Formats: sequence, structure tokens, C-alpha cells
Amino acid sequence: MYCVRKVTEDLYWVGANDRRLALFENIHPIPRGVSYNSYLLLDEKTVLFDTVDWSAGRQFLENIQHVLDGRKLDYLVINHMEPDHGASIEEVLLRYPEAKIISTEKAFMLMRQFHFNIDGRTEQVEEGDTRSFGKHKVTFVSAPMVHWPEAMVTYDMTNGVLFAADAFGSFGSLDGKLFNDEVNFDRDWIDDARRYYTNIVGKYGPHVQALLKKAATIDIKMICPLHGPVWRSDFGYFLDKYDKWSRYEPEEKGVLIVYASMYGNTESAVNILASMLAEKGMSNIAMYDVSKTHVSQLIAETFRYSHIVLASVTYNLGIYPPMHDYLVDMKALNVQNRTVGIIECGSWAPKSGTLMEEFLDGMKTMTVLNEKVTVLSSLNESSLLEMEQLADGLIESMND
Ligand code: FEO
Repeated sequence: MYCVRKVTEDLYWVGANDRRLALFENIHPIPRGVSYNSYLLLDEKTVLFDTVDWSAGRQFLENIQHVLDGRKLDYLVINHMEPDHGASIEEVLLRYPEAKIISTEKAFMLMRQFHFNIDGRTEQVEEGDTRSFGKHKVTFVSAPMVHWPEAMVTYDMTNGVLFAADAFGSFGSLDGKLFNDEVNFDRDWIDDARRYYTNIVGKYGPHVQALLKKAATIDIKMICPLHGPVWRSDFGYFLDKYDKWSRYEPEEKGVLIVYASMYGNTESAVNILASMLAEKGMSNIAMYDVSKTHVSQLIAETFRYSHIVLASVTYNLGIYPPMHDYLVDMKALNVQNRTVGIIECGSWAPKSGTLMEEFLDGMKTMTVLNEKVTVLSSLNESSLLEMEQLADGLIESMND
């Protein structure tokens, strides 16, 4: 049975929700599911903007059939070819034999790599090209690396709708609520939106900045992303988040403490640090056990906070493996502009602090505080004093 929503008078959401998938891209947990958004425009020509993951194909095809109501499909605009949006292209082409695909050269190359039979069905466009579908005239804007190289966004010049591809998306199924003003985004969605952005697009901040600059030159009335709610109000809220995330600027002054503890002594040490910080007036603190927290969550929180404390036990004379994985992910996603405090622990040869600092040296503009803490098995009077100095160092660096 079809399940669609009207977006504007002649535009319909024909996507689907997926609550069965455990791991997005087979990496990132999505306990709230995810939506694959696709939009169908009924003008003099009928135009489908992007498709959905194959897992949602049946629902999607029923939705298209319902909205078309016997009309043929004229065009399929593909803004992004990653299979969570492109996997159903070939089935759409089979069912609607007159439909032509409008997309970029690179997207067509990818379609052929995925062995889609698109011969004779393509209309290649480039930045600034336009197409008229009747009342609606659209222009295409390239958006390379947001989040694949072939990506573009499509702007409807007639009504200000921006088909934004992966930009402005979020994890989370829609559960009937399509628009940002139908949900409490800041309460219920922002954490998933941050985790989506930082882990999926986070590496490509400069490319997102380039897209934001282009977006600033057009009069956007509605943003239709490929995942999550459609935005039709309060753009400033989300644009500000995107601007900060893509410039690698923290959203909040606060301390993210990520610790690796085998028997509880490192955990005990960071509990004391957190108490000291709160006593000294900094209570915006988040603490995570690196062994129990998915790295996608740690990455999202890393983008959020201004200060990070890394506390790691030494393991095989190295950094505790889950902490090392977190650092590798941080570097891969281009995390920068953070102030970091280091706590190393070990019973006979604590090395993790030196090694974490060396790792951070290989990243962009990460400031490591001089106040470091070495814990030999468990905190003692000397390391407690170092901890107090680290707490003071964190707070002073916030006031710089
Ligand atoms: Fe939602 Fe880059 O695909």
C-alpha cells in the first residue's frame, strides 16, 4: 500500500523508512532507523528526484505508481549515486521505459560501474545548466564530495525548493512526520543529525563550505534532503550547525572525556577530574567509556565540544586498541581545532600519553595542554595534584 506525503501543491515525498537496518553503511548503528527520501514532481512533465535503497524498493515503487496515477514518468533526476539512493534506478527505468535520467557525467560513470543499463536514457548536465518541466524551472549545482564526487543538488527556481542530496540529512525514520516543524528537532533529532553529518560527510568540511557559499546566493524556501525531515522553516538553526561542523568549530564550550579503563582505575581517575571541573564551575561535561560507546557517537560528540580529555591505559606498550581506533577515526574525519588534555595510565611502563600526543601531532591544529597526568596503577597524591593542574589548565584555556 502506498504511503506518501504532499510536500508542495505538486511535489510529493515518495520515499520510505527503514527500521530494520541495524548498521548504516554496515558501520553506523541506527537505532531510530533511517529514511530514504525521494520526491516526485507533477508538472507538464513528471520528474522523480533520486530513488531509494533497494531494501525499500517495493514501498517506493508503490508510492510512485500511486502519485503518477496512470501518467508516465518523464525524468529521473539523480543528485547522488550512492546505493542508498541510487539502487532502485534500474527498476524505475524498467517500469517507466520513457523516462530519461538527468545527472552528472560522474554519476553516469558510476551507474555503469554498478552495471545499470542506462544506454540511450541519459541527459548529462553540468553546474548552471537549467531544465524546464512546465511551470517549474530548475538549475543544477555541483556539490562534489557532499558526499561522493558525482553529487549535485537541484534548485527549483520556481518555488525555491532545494533538492539537497546528502546535505542537511539525518539518521532517524520519519514516523509520519515529514517536516522539521512537525518534530522537536533540537530535542529529538539533533544528536542523530550530528552523528550523521560528522561520520558521513565530516571529512569533507571545505566542500560543504563551498556548497554553503553557493546556497547563500539563492533564495531557498524549502530544503528536501535525502534523509530525515524536510526543512521549511528555521533554516538558520540548521545552517549554523552545518557551518560550525564544516569549519570544525565546536558547538559548545565543554569537556568531552573519553576514557579507556581495564579494571576501573582510569575510570576512577576521570570521575575525579570531572568532579574537579564541576567544582570549578565547568559542568558541561560528557563522559564515555571508549570500550562501550560506538565510535560514531564519540565522533559526533568530538565535533560538539571544544575540549577533549583522552584518558587511556597502556596496552601492549601502546594505546588501548578502542582508543586508538577512535583516534584513527578522528584523523580520518579531519577533526581539528580542539584543545586536548591527556591522561595516561599503566602499572609499569605508562606510554599511552606520549603515543596519543604523537598521534595528535599528526592532526591539524590540535592543541595539547602541557598539564598531563600519569597514573601509576591508580591515582596517588602526586597524580592527584597533576589532575588538579589539568582541571585548571582546561578551564584556563577556555577563558583564553
Ligand atoms: Fe545517503 Fe551518500 O548517501
